Amino acid sequence: MPRIRPRKLLGAFAGSIVSVTQLIDNAVLLRGSRKLNSIRKRFDFIKYGMEYDGSPDDIFIVTYPKSGTTWLQMIVYQLTTDGEMNFTHITEISPHLEAMMIPRGRKISDLRGTPRFVKSHLQYHQIPKGPGRYIYGIRNGLDVAVSYHHHARQYMPGWGQVSRGEFFSRFLAGAVSYGSWFEHVAGWLRNKDRLNVLVVSYEDLRADLEAEVKRIADFCGITIDPAAMPRILERCSFAFMREHEAKFALPEPPPLPKPAGPDTRFIRRGQVGGWRQELDARAASDFHEECDRRLHGLGEDMVRVLSGRGAREGEPAL
Ligand code: PPS
Repeated sequence: MPRIRPRKLLGAFAGSIVSVTQLIDNAVLLRGSRKLNSIRKRFDFIKYGMEYDGSPDDIFIVTYPKSGTTWLQMIVYQLTTDGEMNFTHITEISPHLEAMMIPRGRKISDLRGTPRFVKSHLQYHQIPKGPGRYIYGIRNGLDVAVSYHHHARQYMPGWGQVSRGEFFSRFLAGAVSYGSWFEHVAGWLRNKDRLNVLVVSYEDLRADLEAEVKRIADFCGITIDPAAMPRILERCSFAFMREHEAKFALPEPPPLPKPAGPDTRFIRRGQVGGWRQELDARAASDFHEECDRRLHGLGEDMVRVLSGRGAREGEPAL
């Protein structure tokens, strides 16, 4: 009789819990029930209680969705390889931890690549903790909400008809996939000194990509060959990534009716402050009130970035 390894069994159990709960997650969120949502959260420790078997060189790129995750993955890819783009999809190089690894019982040590780097949207209390490097990407919540709405309309079954206003209310209430943006950023930023964390903002990436690329390289212990910098900057640009969008867009879009227009692109607009074209002053003031209430203690500068009040608005990428 084959020997059953307890860790494998636990992995398979956790994997099936993830698959089942992911199926019900969307249904629960669509119904907007806070009670069901909070019961669902109690099972997080089973879903994500993954043993971290990695090394200090491993890199976790963690964000709330739509905060510049893919951009950070591309930066790390360009920094750690010759940047030739010889992959079909970025997830081959840098898989999505909770979507592609945990449900399949794959561990960090199963990955190839030096360093190994994964993407995740898990909250601080959910992320596997260890000696690795954690790059936590942030973006002002109003731009996140708008980007997330466009994403949900295309990729999340049942969300196609959810209006901008309705989506924004759900976003404020944390009744969207991956939960509350406020909890996510506050959880990570309040606990960042417990792990080896570098915080990078989307706004800083837009304002001075070269400086941020150097900061990320320093954090990861990478020396950049000055001759490689022009290539890194060019390939991490909005224009380049948009041109190669198939390598970054979600690999398996569900068969939903696809609305027309530029907002259906995965590499969509890439703007700071683009929310102003879609949300009104009332929505912004509701959001700012929540920021003041829920992000206190993070420091004035940080709250200014997260709330979008102090965004340095560059030329729109699109
Ligand atoms: S996901 O689905 O959560 O992984 O999405 P994520 O990658 O976090 O965020 C997608 C947004 O990032 C923008 N993006 C960029 N902006 C500027 N420059 C570059 N190179 C770049 N690459 C991705 C992308 O356009 C999404 O933002 P919006 O506001 O929708 O355009």
